[in-house]
Amino acid sequence: MSRAVDSAVQPFAARRARLLAQLPPGTVAVLTTAPEVMRNSDSPYPYRHDSYFYYLSGFAEPESTLVLLAAHGDALARSILFCRNKDPEHEIWDGFRYGPEAACAAFGFDEAYAIDDFDKKMATLLGSGSKRRRKQIKKAELLPLLDAMRLLKDDSEQATMGRAAGISALAHVRAMRAMARSGAGLPEYALEAELLYEFRLHGAQAPAYPSIVASGANACVLHYSANNAVTRDGDLVLIDAGCELDGYASDITRTFPVNGRFTTPQRQLYELVLAAQAAALAAVAPGQPYSAIHEAAVRVLTEGMLELGLLDKNTCGSVADAIAEQRHRQFYMHGTGHWLGMDVHDVGQYRDIHAEGKPSRALQAGMVLTVEPGIYVRPAAGVPDIYWNTGIRIEDDVLVTPHGHTILSAAAPKSVAEIEKLMQ
Ligand code: GLY
Ligand code: MN
Ligand code: MN
Repeated sequence: MSRAVDSAVQPFAARRARLLAQLPPGTVAVLTTAPEVMRNSDSPYPYRHDSYFYYLSGFAEPESTLVLLAAHGDALARSILFCRNKDPEHEIWDGFRYGPEAACAAFGFDEAYAIDDFDKKMATLLGSGSKRRRKQIKKAELLPLLDAMRLLKDDSEQATMGRAAGISALAHVRAMRAMARSGAGLPEYALEAELLYEFRLHGAQAPAYPSIVASGANACVLHYSANNAVTRDGDLVLIDAGCELDGYASDITRTFPVNGRFTTPQRQLYELVLAAQAAALAAVAPGQPYSAIHEAAVRVLTEGMLELGLLDKNTCGSVADAIAEQRHRQFYMHGTGHWLGMDVHDVGQYRDIHAEGKPSRALQAGMVLTVEPGIYVRPAAGVPDIYWNTGIRIEDDVLVTPHGHTILSAAAPKSVAEIEKLMQ
């Protein structure tokens, strides 16, 4: 592990070293990347590596396995890659592949071998039949170690996530401008096309999850992804879309008027969600419990729902009663965020599972999370009809810093004034 490696692959080598230092002596961790999946006959789905494998290797080719040998007696820890051999014939069709020798040098592994030799080599590495037998660590023991590491983003991850969120913010701006230029009648998928264009223009490899472009009542469908309705004058559009850049996700939601101007009821609901987000963001700082973010959003939303008459004061009682009975769930039925990282809903515990009573865990510098309150009003008896079929969510990507937080997605406008100005 002492081998000098190129600065681009240094973070991966450092993660391997940190994991190896935590593995029990004499154990072996085996991490295989994702399989290629065929869409039909000889056409594959776009390939995406396994996040754990990539986190430790930086190696994006399929048919690869990483073997990490913890120190064992006087034998030092080692990291070994198994990958596809060089194959000039296949490379004519499908492009460059490293092969073990070049991969070993370029990515800073201790050894590398052909994946075809995996079974034979593994028998040797595990020391089958010898006194120096090694034991393969079970996934259930390995993944919690990795999840804890992945939860705290290192400098290189923070930099990539900042770039990913920046690209996605540009994509949201582009969609708002396209909406303003074309006006009502533009199909939702045309806005989706603007997002995808901006993602690729800046080198992002793919959307991090299916883009939601939901106009009018569609915005009340939380995982709407048909994106095939036509935008109508007087409606809002909710866009939840983020790119994946170099293995890292971004996840931004903005909601804006088709015609560039919020109506009074739309503005009332929008300002309420924005205030809830501000309260939630104020709770993002090291040492604060994760649960405080959702609690802050729910308090503001509940107060607003009672004030606007979405919730009936006579049936709900005080704000405290309404919160205790979770009345907000009629219009706000999801959590206020999640960890964000290589996966859009990233790994990591939300509770301190080792502490008495499993309390919500304290935020730490280096964590990245989304803050995404919303309000979704479906037609219902007792609900003022001026708010019906309105869905609003405002979602940002937030890095916990030593003294507070940084909003990675801040370049996407979100105040009523900023949005209306941009769309003029
Ligand atoms: N786009 C998925 C989410 O917001 O969690
Ligand atoms: Mn999200
Ligand atoms: Mn989202």
